[in-house]
Amino acid sequence: MKDILTAPFMVEMIRTATNMYAHGWDERNGGNISLLLDKDAVSAYLDTETVLRTIPTGFSAPELAGRYFLVTGTGKYFKNVQYAPEVNLGLVRIATDGEHAELLWGFADGGNFTSEFPAHMMSHVERLKVDPNNRVVMHCHPANLLAMTYVHDLDEIKFTRTLWQMCTECIVVFPDGVNVLPWMLCGTNEIGVATAEKMRTARLVVWAQHGIYGAGKDLDETFGLIETAEKAAEIYMKIAHLQLVNTITDEQMHLLEQRFGVKAREGYLN
Ligand code: 13P
Ligand code: ZN
Repeated sequence: MKDILTAPFMVEMIRTATNMYAHGWDERNGGNISLLLDKDAVSAYLDTETVLRTIPTGFSAPELAGRYFLVTGTGKYFKNVQYAPEVNLGLVRIATDGEHAELLWGFADGGNFTSEFPAHMMSHVERLKVDPNNRVVMHCHPANLLAMTYVHDLDEIKFTRTLWQMCTECIVVFPDGVNVLPWMLCGTNEIGVATAEKMRTARLVVWAQHGIYGAGKDLDETFGLIETAEKAAEIYMKIAHLQLVNTITDEQMHLLEQRFGVKAREGYLN
């Protein structure tokens, strides 16, 4: 059996958590990541018959029964992931009943998966329906996106259009736009259901006054998605109090659609 700390999925997870911390998106224990893994990738590093612990999830996700996830732990600091991956991360399999997670590796101090496990798992279910290649759900607290939810209308079309107007490539990176949830209590099944519902139509879901969720086919792509939206929010926060003289027009957005072969979300452009 190969050393799991050398597995490409583990190396990438550790690098991503470290990088997210470096970007200031994950203060203290803020943020969480879940990465869906193929059984074959896991079996090269672990005896999948050995279950260390069985943990109730508090919700039902029969669609994910038998699926493997590498996930960050609740209360764990992203800055520490690189120094103690076995404490701060866990590798779990959703049990056949869809209501328990079987711990196969990690959470070595008796820890548990993120309190946002419902939002992650429910989002995986919905994203996989739209895109069978989806593997990642990522949550974090980037300052500018968060700041924007205090001063900008939370209407999804308006919020998306503002972000698209802030950097030329935004519409190319997230043509499906950004969905927005009003403030809700985090760590609950309710916010999980609401987030997953929003994930049906976009890969980015803003939690007002809290942070953002992103989904994608790998860690790099999902990181890049959030990075691009956060850059746009940063530009917005730099200019929101100034007189706007220029913008990217809808006509120019249509040129971007043609040039990059993307289609903006229906009804979002004039
Ligand atoms: P966890 O430490 O449980 O992952 O929670 C962090 C967080 O960002 C809650 O929304
Ligand atoms: Zn959070």
